[in-house]
Amino acid sequence: QLRRWRQDGDMLALVPTMGALHDGHLTLVRHARTLAERVCVSLFVNPTQFGPNEDLAVYLRDESGDAAKLAALGADLLFVPAVEEMYPPESLTRVTVPGLGDMLEGEYRPGFFTGVATVVCKLLLQALPDVAVFGEKDYQQLLVVRRMCADLCISTRIEGVSTVREADGLALSSRNAYLSAEERQVAPALYRTLSGVVAGLRDGADPIERAAWGEAELLRAGFDEVDYVAVRDSETFAPWPGPSRPGRVLAAARIGRTRLIDNVAVA
Ligand code: PAF
Repeated sequence: QLRRWRQDGDMLALVPTMGALHDGHLTLVRHARTLAERVCVSLFVNPTQFGPNEDLAVYLRDESGDAAKLAALGADLLFVPAVEEMYPPESLTRVTVPGLGDMLEGEYRPGFFTGVATVVCKLLLQALPDVAVFGEKDYQQLLVVRRMCADLCISTRIEGVSTVREADGLALSSRNAYLSAEERQVAPALYRTLSGVVAGLRDGADPIERAAWGEAELLRAGFDEVDYVAVRDSETFAPWPGPSRPGRVLAAARIGRTRLIDNVAVA
């Protein structure tokens, strides 16, 4: 079907997802519709990007609900491959993005970005879209995918879309569903704190000291553990050298058993 659309001269956009679609995903689909005549959404809970102690077995699945939401938005095709289709038993190849894929999220979730890069590479080669759309909420993932495409000469344009937030600032995420009512009260502190780090940087604070302030602030607000608060160059992901370069403040922290990530531009 995709080949036929391509032959007809239609531009094709791909929105890769793991399902459990919320308004953040739907915003990606809406954006994709502005970029191409045809929008294909993939739904695949990719086992290779989950660690042994992560939530693969309990990850939310609602294929028929997802399909209904996508149909209402006018998406053209929903691709829901089986695990054996994406990873036949004899398959061996993995795509690794060393360096960029080993820091921050990659440090706390070993193998995560190899799983992401491998599955996104496969999806791009299966669909051959002109453009693929990813959320900025997983900012490091967006950079890893961009690096992978540049390095492997995959010509699909990678488009990032701003994070969609609840009224209190909490970034939409399928994993928010794991939060208890009390944890949900604590969760907006992540965005609030990242915004506070950015405000300090704008006033000239030292990035390392401001990140340390952010970590302490998250614990004070009720998070149980902070994996990192980091200030990075938005494009190279090197430590942010200062206002001459675009910056990004990123954090991962845990409330109870739920790990949340978020990021804010230094603007
Ligand atoms: O962001 C996600 O939902 C996943 O990491 C992706 C890009 C669909 C790859 O499995």
